[in-house]
Formats: sequence, structure tokens, C-alpha cells
Amino acid sequence: MTGVITGATLVAGVVGAPVRHSLSPLIHNAWIAAAGLDAVYVPFSPPAGGFARFVDGLRGGAIRGLNVTLPFKGDALDAADKPNARASIAGAANLLLFEADGSVRADNTDGEGLLAAFKEQAPGFDPGRAPVVILGAGGAARGAAAAFVAAGAPEVRLVNRTLGKAEAVAAGVGGAAQAFSLTSVRDAFNGAGAVINATSVGLDDDAILDLPLEVLPSGAVAMDMVYAPLVTGFLAAARLRGLATVDGLAMLVGQARPSFAALFGQPPPEHVDVRGLALAALGNQ
Ligand code: ATR
Repeated sequence: MTGVITGATLVAGVVGAPVRHSLSPLIHNAWIAAAGLDAVYVPFSPPAGGFARFVDGLRGGAIRGLNVTLPFKGDALDAADKPNARASIAGAANLLLFEADGSVRADNTDGEGLLAAFKEQAPGFDPGRAPVVILGAGGAARGAAAAFVAAGAPEVRLVNRTLGKAEAVAAGVGGAAQAFSLTSVRDAFNGAGAVINATSVGLDDDAILDLPLEVLPSGAVAMDMVYAPLVTGFLAAARLRGLATVDGLAMLVGQARPSFAALFGQPPPEHVDVRGLALAALGNQ
């Protein structure tokens, strides 16, 4: 926002529950200010069970669009009339765009953000070179699997405590996806080029996954989608093992960039240190 909200101010935002810790308003408003746009990006938190009604109330262009975070990414896909291919394959949407004719488009920029995070923090990593391991089989894991299949991974190995869920995700994303139970994680790690933690372990508690990191090739990259803390137990253990690491904040900024471009019709300004802003905010939480 340029400081004054006018009748012409474009409104966009993020919807989640809870949404108060979302860093997206900080990131997008910093870009909006730097680009000099007459726009504002605000948080929304509809009541449980009220997501579809919330979206219906915005149809017709009351706002330009919304990023979507937990727990609504699946609901967002269901609420949209026009999901694009990558949202449909991921089974989730993190971006809804409201058209003037009342229709709602859905996109998913999380996979693009994940690959951008690897490019930024592990530039030597080539997704097409070796199998990629994804820990978990929820929506985040499915999106990651779809992104790596699309990026040409020779094999995507989904490792999950509940094998059936990993099998369902593997079948859904197609490509060379294989399911492993957590008890077979050693087999999944064998020869892997990257391991991505897409489980919710440690999100709400201090639980850690006990992983045989010594099995991984020394050139493997470890990535955690969690960004608070920035260095999770998994990433700390990977660094001790000598592996390159990629953090969840790089993915958050990586998905925000194409989201901003879709919402405001221009790429975000390059010169804004949104990662620094986000880190400062995380330190203050
Ligand atoms: P999202 O949709 O955000 O990815 P989710 O659907 O709640 O989240 O998925 C959480 C993932 O973390 C699941 O893969 C879950 O494993 P199960 O499918 O077996 O439930 C995994 N997970 C959560 N707690 C775990 C734990 N303590 N150990 C191992 N895996 C765990």
C-alpha cells in the first residue's frame, strides 16, 4: 500500500486458520510498497466449515485474489470453478483468483516455490539426476511429489508412517512414484539426491523423526518445509551429517513470487529483502 487507501485500491490477501502468524501480508505488502502499487494485502480467517461460503461471498471481483494456507488448500481447490493443471495434480490450491464474471480460478505455486528454493540454496542440485525422497503423504507431500515428477525426477519415493496414504499419493501423481513405509526408510534413502520433509512432525510439538541420514549419499540435499524454526531438527541433523540444506522460508518466498505476479500483473520488485523482513518477524514471534 502506498499509505492511503482509496476507492481504487486493489485488495488481495491470504486466508488460513489460524492466519495471524502468516508472513504473507508482510512479504506482499513490502513488494506492493516497493512497486508503488495502489493495493493492499490482508489476512482473512473464516470459521471452520465456512470456507466455501467465504469464497462465494467474494465472487464477482470484490477482491482480486487470495493466497490459501492451512487448512484450506484442499477446500480452495474444491471451491474453484477453474483449477489449472498443476493445482489439480497437486490436489490443492494455494492461490485463488476472482474473475469479474463471478468465476474463481485456482492455481498452486507451492511446487514452483519448492523448486525455486532448491535453485537458490542448493544451486548444484539437479532434480533429474537421482531419486527424490519425500517424507509424508498429506497435501504438502502430494504437491512436492507432483512438482518433482514435473521437474523430471527419475523416481519420487514417498515415505510415510501410514503406507496406504503414500500409495494413494504415488498413484495420484503418476510418473515414477513409489511408496515406502517409514520402517523401510533406509531403502528409500539409498542413492537419493534429495530428502524433503513434508510431514507435520515438530510443527506443534518437539517431536523429531529418527532418520538414518548416514545412508544418504554425501551429495544429497535435505529440505524442510517448516520455517519456524528456520533450522529444524531435521535440517540440523542433516548439517551435522555434512549435507547441503534448503529451508522452508526459501519455499515460502518462492511461492509468493509467482503469486504476486498473478495477483498484481507484474513480478515483485527484485531489490526488496523479504527474506530479511521475514526473519526479523520470526525472531520477534
Ligand atoms: P498436510 O496436508 O499439511 O501435508 P497432513 O495431511 O496432516 O498435512 O499430513 C501430515 C503428515 O505428517 C502425514 O504424512 C503424517 O503421517 P500419517 O499419514 O501416517 O498420519 C505425518 N506425520 C504426522 N505426525 C507424524 C509422526 N509423529 N511420525 C511420522 N509421521 C507423522
